[in-house]
Amino acid sequence: MVLVSKPKNTTGGLKAIFGLLTVVTFLFCNYIITSSNESNSLSSSIQRLENTNRDLEKANEELKKKNENLVYDIDELRDANEKLQNDLRNKNQELESMSRQVQQQQSEATQVSNAVRQKKWDNWPAVAYEQVGKPLVFKGDSFYNHARELYFQPQSNGQTLFDEFLNVYKDRPDPVNMCGIRINHAMALFLAVKHLQPSLVIESGVNQGVSTYFIRAASNTTKIFAIDPKEKPICDQGERWIDQSNLTVNYTGENFTDILDLDWKSMVDKKEIDPDSTLVFLDDHLHAFKRIASVMKLGVRHVLVEDNYKNGEGATRLDRNSTPKQMLSASKWKKEGDWLFNNIVTYAEFPPLIPPIMAKESPEPKKSRGGFMVATDLNEDIAHPILRPDLNEDDMKLFKDAVAKLDLDPTLVDRNSYMQFMNYNQFCHIEFLPMPPSLLYQ
Ligand SMILES: *[C@@H]1O[C@H](CO)[C@@H](O)[C@H](O)[C@H]1NC(C)=O
Ligand SMILES: *[C@@H]1O[C@H](CO)[C@@H](O)[C@H](O)[C@H]1NC(C)=O
Ligand SMILES: *[C@@H]1O[C@H](CO)[C@@H](O)[C@H](O)[C@H]1NC(C)=O
Ligand SMILES: *[C@@H]1O[C@H](CO)[C@@H](O)[C@H](O)[C@H]1NC(C)=O
Repeated sequence: MVLVSKPKNTTGGLKAIFGLLTVVTFLFCNYIITSSNESNSLSSSIQRLENTNRDLEKANEELKKKNENLVYDIDELRDANEKLQNDLRNKNQELESMSRQVQQQQSEATQVSNAVRQKKWDNWPAVAYEQVGKPLVFKGDSFYNHARELYFQPQSNGQTLFDEFLNVYKDRPDPVNMCGIRINHAMALFLAVKHLQPSLVIESGVNQGVSTYFIRAASNTTKIFAIDPKEKPICDQGERWIDQSNLTVNYTGENFTDILDLDWKSMVDKKEIDPDSTLVFLDDHLHAFKRIASVMKLGVRHVLVEDNYKNGEGATRLDRNSTPKQMLSASKWKKEGDWLFNNIVTYAEFPPLIPPIMAKESPEPKKSRGGFMVATDLNEDIAHPILRPDLNEDDMKLFKDAVAKLDLDPTLVDRNSYMQFMNYNQFCHIEFLPMPPSLLYQ
């Protein structure tokens, strides 16, 4: 349009053309500059994109790697998990089996503790309970519970203690000993002295002196206090056997001093006696329960009671109302029984040598005052016998040998043979706790 404008003046026209050219050039240059700027920014954008792409690829690569690692980790974790599960299962099984073992041990322990609280024997009706109020009570583990082993196991000399006892018994000073001890009680006394080896035996109730004889036969070094108010034996037994040893002090007849009236404090102070190693043998038909408690307070550790009658039995009024067996068994003496049971270490009744069934041919009737076994006894309240000749041939041989040695009759038909083997009063051993010296002789 400018070009077709009227050329009025050539100089003016040139000027115009020149101006036009300048403008065009300017525009062109401007265009060139602009487009070159734009091309620059495009390639840098591409560059950036490429960089970004590389970065992304790199990141992707890394992710891939990480992913691989993760996959690898997951596998590892799975393996570890499986292993843990296995371990856990095994541990669980172990725990279960341990818990089963613990349960079994607990039930065994209960059985053992029941077994300790309760003693049963094969083919024997009695059950011994470590509990008051039962027909047969025991406490702890007295050596009387091991009478069979102690009497029948061969000793170093090849003999048994029973062989030794039979020799002693055969030579007893009074073969009948009408109102005194026979085989069962002599065995109980002999074993106690042999086993306990007391420094002193105090015998309360000497009578014929046969029990003194067994004490001395069991130990020739122990001191004996032989206590009896009477000068002569009862039951027409003739002369008393008196120990010739000066280790036996005769508190008899005019020199009688009751066991509780002895000057304990003075004797202990002078070290003439040691209550801790003193054995008291009660055979005096006095109040056994009170005397047991009294000698306990003197610091004596071991007591034997000979006339340990059952509930409702007894030769004297006191025998019927004071024996440890009565106190430990009868509900009417529950307080006494509880006190006794809880203040002693052991209580055990010496078992009879043979069961009463061995006297099945004897015509002897049951004595209401007790003291003798008969074949019809129920045996629910006496300990299992040492020998069972009724069940065992070897025991039968031991019994027959003993009977032959003592010139007695194995059928126990004659009165003396019957009395020798069936006289049984639940002779017992009681052990006390050691008495603290601060409580003695105050
Ligand atoms: C005392 O007893 C022991 C054992 O029983 C015996 O070996 C000893 O000979 C006895 N001593 C006397 C003097 O009797
Ligand atoms: C006890 O009496 C007997 C017989 O008389 C005698 O041998 C013994 O020595 C007496 N005991 C004491 C300690 O005197
Ligand atoms: C006791 O008897 C023994 C031997 O029998 C004798 O050695 C001792 O001296 C006697 N003791 C007393 C105090 O008489
Ligand atoms: C009583 O003891 C005294 C002194 O030891 C003695 O002389 C006397 O013979 C004893 N009496 C009897 C019966 O043993």
